[in-house]
Amino acid sequence: MAERPKILVTQRVPDVAYPPLETIGEVEANMEEGLIWPYEELLRRGPGHDYIFCLLTDQIDARFLEACASATPRLKMVANMAVGYNNIDVEAATRLGIAVSNTPGVLSDTTADLAFGLLIAVARRIPEAERFVRAGKFKGWGPLLFCGADVHHATLGLIGAGRIGKIVAKRASGFEMRVLYYDVYRLPPEEEATYHLTYAPLDELLRESDFVSIHTPYLPSTHHLIGERELSLMKPTAYLINTSRGPVIDEKALVRALQAKQIAGAGLDVYEHEPAIEPELLTMDNVVLLPHIASASYATRNQMALMASNNIVAYHEGRRPPNLVNP
Ligand code: DGY
Repeated sequence: MAERPKILVTQRVPDVAYPPLETIGEVEANMEEGLIWPYEELLRRGPGHDYIFCLLTDQIDARFLEACASATPRLKMVANMAVGYNNIDVEAATRLGIAVSNTPGVLSDTTADLAFGLLIAVARRIPEAERFVRAGKFKGWGPLLFCGADVHHATLGLIGAGRIGKIVAKRASGFEMRVLYYDVYRLPPEEEATYHLTYAPLDELLRESDFVSIHTPYLPSTHHLIGERELSLMKPTAYLINTSRGPVIDEKALVRALQAKQIAGAGLDVYEHEPAIEPELLTMDNVVLLPHIASASYATRNQMALMASNNIVAYHEGRRPPNLVNP
């Protein structure tokens, strides 16, 4: 009888992920909720598995992949439970013949919801006002109390009009917003019409938008896409929202722009050196900070977990994993 494959699950994930894996192989899993193995521990535990189910906080670099490719059994596949896979050196994996998969689509609505939530929260100063009430400072309605910016009828600039960006555009239409988008790939006219999107070059989008929301993957070409120059083009009344990946924004430049009141505020779910955050941001009331939870609904995380497992099962059964990202 053929030996059952060895599968490593690097972090505690939703329960639905385990049964499909257990039907095909021997599962070794980190079951301690919230425990992220440091890189050296991952490097020690990874080699000797056929399949690795990993998360965006696991650094799956060339060194790690080479160690796994030269062990017995040899690593065949890495399934990331995330749509973004900038934590994995896909080029090295491809060179070593290791398949890589992600979890696209299932988290788009949930992520778009949170992007919109952040946008409203920062514009209408919801967390700041809530802190005020909890501190016992609410002494009655005030004509000037916590006035913020209107979301309805404002101009929203989307950087990236992929799956998530388009859904944010749908949310925006309920608020009767004008929606501009910038993307390296211009959408076909029918899609622009469906989502009520108007294409604008990046600089024009930055100059015209009341809210700029980032929905691009993190690639070498999107590193610091929003830096000092770009922030200086934004309106002093505009807000920057990021639910994609932290390093798309030059976080130090963002701090300087906020300090200089070049922009009105920011809503951030992701950070350049996550989980570290530029300390100045923690002191600013016009910044809403979340701990990378854009896809964190129970239903969505279950779907992501199942999808990652199903990619491994497909590979094991000789089928093409549905969400392969290798070129
Ligand atoms: C992803 O899937 O890339 C998200 O950032 C995780 O929620």
